[in-house]
Amino acid sequence: MKTFHTVAGLREALAGERLAAKTIGFVPTMGNLHAGHIALVEQARQSCDVVVCSIFVNALQFGLNEDWDKYPRTFQADCEKLTAAGCDYLFNPTDNEMYPNGLDTQSRVICPTMTDVLCGASRPGHFEGVTTVVTKLFNIVQPDTAIFGVKDYQQLAVIRRMSEDLCMPIEIVGAPIHREPDGLAMSSRNSYITAQERANVTVLHDMLQQVAAALQSGERDFAALEERGRAAIRAAGFKPDYFSISNSKTLDAAAYDDRELTVLGAMFTSAARLIDNTSITLD
Ligand code: PAF
Repeated sequence: MKTFHTVAGLREALAGERLAAKTIGFVPTMGNLHAGHIALVEQARQSCDVVVCSIFVNALQFGLNEDWDKYPRTFQADCEKLTAAGCDYLFNPTDNEMYPNGLDTQSRVICPTMTDVLCGASRPGHFEGVTTVVTKLFNIVQPDTAIFGVKDYQQLAVIRRMSEDLCMPIEIVGAPIHREPDGLAMSSRNSYITAQERANVTVLHDMLQQVAAALQSGERDFAALEERGRAAIRAAGFKPDYFSISNSKTLDAAAYDDRELTVLGAMFTSAARLIDNTSITLD
């Protein structure tokens, strides 16, 4: 695996691959890689000739009181995992390389729909930071395919919408959620869960499954089902952020006759904010 810290270096290397008519698959990450990230790299490996991964902890998508400074940085271990997974190129820019004019005056990409609900409601500016950095990364890498985890469902939906709206010639692929044996969705932020909390955090996944099953069996009182999810999270000792039944494409609150539904939840532990979701198609 070749590692580049500059835009110019990576561009030069990828120009050669493009000249040789190789397809490029891209997996953007913020590092601290777990099995879920590695599955994205393996998926890119299977569908593209060349695999590019980025590791960049993007300050633009963190709020003032969020965990940018303590976000786990595990570069050496990440490099070993990426090499073993068959990644060809790693892009690991500095903050200055990505934002040479500073964050305050950085041009932004705004996706006005879908970004002020769910995670966007409690993390103002977060998705603007994501769409801006992903657009920059897309412009730098110019991939044929980009792979994102379904675990960050809202992020995936926003990026799909952005690439459609801005005519980005990139196939956006969603890769399945990787879970621990008890159902907890893998996340870099799981390291913030305390040993005491660990047994109970599965309540989020359990309630998403229960509510999805209730929808499948014909229940349609969305507000009651959402409250059932929030109540169970509270009973397990956590603070729900949201628990919502949404239209899978638009992320609007579900309408009675919607067929593609996604149940999304977020909750706070003492030091982490955990998210998860499950999608269903009704007959
Ligand atoms: O999902 C993430 O890790 C980040 O939001 C992303 C897509 C790498 C942008 O910084």
